[in-house]
Amino acid sequence: MTRAWTNDTPEAFEIQWNRVYTLPDFVRFTHRPHIHAGIECQRCHGPVQTMDRVVPVHEINMGFCVDCHTEKKATLDCVGCHH
Ligand code: HEC
Ligand code: HEC
Ligand code: HEC
Repeated sequence: MTRAWTNDTPEAFEIQWNRVYTLPDFVRFTHRPHIHAGIECQRCHGPVQTMDRVVPVHEINMGFCVDCHTEKKATLDCVGCHH
């Protein structure tokens, strides 16, 4: 179940899975090519091993994706990331 945390989320939901990152529906993202390319979890998720609670470390916007894609020569095609 995916349920975004909002200020209106009742206390009763506290122990439910809270997504840390959420992408809009028009973005295509899968972990597979990234893990295959040898990118560490920490590169996108930060030093999760030292966090009591996982918190977002990057604002996930297009620049976050495109900066690394430029650096690694991965796809910059609009349809690569958008349906
Ligand atoms: C290239 C960046 C990147 C890498 C590398 C990466 N992730 Fe993610 N991860 C994301 C993004 C972006 C999302 C949100 C996806 C969505 O909303 O559809 C996500 C979502 C998740 C989620 C769902 C929970 C949440 O916060 O939304 C888990 C669990 C997760 N990643 C674990 C991992 C693990 C474990 C690794 C290493 C094996 C890893 N990720 C590597 C970018 C990355
Ligand atoms: C830290 C670097 C990094 C970040 C951040 C990153 N990517 Fe990637 N991405 C890569 C690499 C490297 C590949 C693999 C390129 C290859 O295999 O040639 C890849 C591959 C992909 C592919 C597959 C492309 C194809 O042609 O098969 C998609 C889709 C993609 N990324 C989307 C995203 C989205 C969306 C985000 C942001 C939420 C993101 N990536 C963030 C490095 C990154
Ligand atoms: C490497 C992945 C990637 C590529 C390549 C990419 N985008 Fe995006 N784009 C994203 C992500 C992730 C978002 C969501 C940003 C957010 O949630 O703030 C986004 C958001 C957008 C939006 C919504 C407005 C905004 O800024 O939030 C538009 C429009 C858009 N992209 C157009 C394009 C066009 C046009 C291209 C080709 C020139 C392109 N994108 C290439 C990942 C990508």
